[in-house]
Amino acid sequence: MGKSYIITSFKGGVGKTTLSANLAITLARMGNSVVAVDCDLESRCLDIVLGLENSALFNICDCIRGTCTIDKALVRDTRCDNLFFISAPAFYPESQEDSTGGDEFSDQAVAKFVKQLTERFDYVIFDLPARPDNLYRKLALLADAAFVVSLHTATSIRAAEKTAMALNELTGYGRENETRGGLDIRLIVNGFKPKDAKSGINVGLYEIISKTKLQLYGVVPFSVAMSKAQEMGKLAYEGGSSSMPFAKAVENIASRCTGRKVPLFKGVDTGVNKNTVY
Ligand SMILES: Nc1ncnc2c1ncn2[C@@H]1O[C@H](COP(=O)(O)OP(=O)(O)O)[C@@H](O)[C@H]1O
Ligand SMILES: [Mg+2]
Repeated sequence: MGKSYIITSFKGGVGKTTLSANLAITLARMGNSVVAVDCDLESRCLDIVLGLENSALFNICDCIRGTCTIDKALVRDTRCDNLFFISAPAFYPESQEDSTGGDEFSDQAVAKFVKQLTERFDYVIFDLPARPDNLYRKLALLADAAFVVSLHTATSIRAAEKTAMALNELTGYGRENETRGGLDIRLIVNGFKPKDAKSGINVGLYEIISKTKLQLYGVVPFSVAMSKAQEMGKLAYEGGSSSMPFAKAVENIASRCTGRKVPLFKGVDTGVNKNTVY
């Protein structure tokens, strides 16, 4: 059985989709079979970030509704043979959820979908929306771990705190398979600017950990080069040497996912004293 991760924060723009895409391809380039699933039904964009825009005929809703097979919805990445992608629908009006009483997808149908993916892939990465909808809650109950993404800004840390609290409340009780225990909730600090943490302009890592009460899983530096590459449909590893610190930090996270112990900033030049974490 593969591992499934939800990438989450109740705040938009903190890098959930960016990290989902880059983590997926990094795990795939390490030799694992990976599927990245866009679960942002109302505002999909993982296809763009993966550089796979307009490549999907079917989407996650078709799979869960049972109107198409997973095989039909899977899109193979053009760069890496063992990376696949499942799109969110092009159009999913909010009213759709309202008209179904917010419960379009049954527990059983979502569980079947997740099981099919974890049986087939080593890693399943669910890119979640900022708004915790019905599908979000069901996936949270089924995933092995959650990565709560936060920038080191006051507003996104507040959102990370809320996300972690909600996930604990949601998944701490009544999990289908209680032997698996509660959801493993970890923190990824994205867009990190060590100099700004050091000077006090932005919140430092210790303060983020103490506020969110989450174990830190990874720190990903702010990277203009990665962002520019993304605009051209490229992932960080394709963005040349200037996006390498970002790519390397994601590689460290991917290595931890595979069970390897990797120091927080291995191979990432943070530009400040390497022995000090701010
Ligand atoms: N580490 C980073 N450094 C610089 N820009 C980033 C970083 N992570 C994300 N971004 C940029 O932030 C924007 C929002 O990212 P996105 O992944 O769409 O956020 P979310 O999915 O949480 O809404 C994108 O333009 C992306 O390129
Ligand atoms: Mg997103």
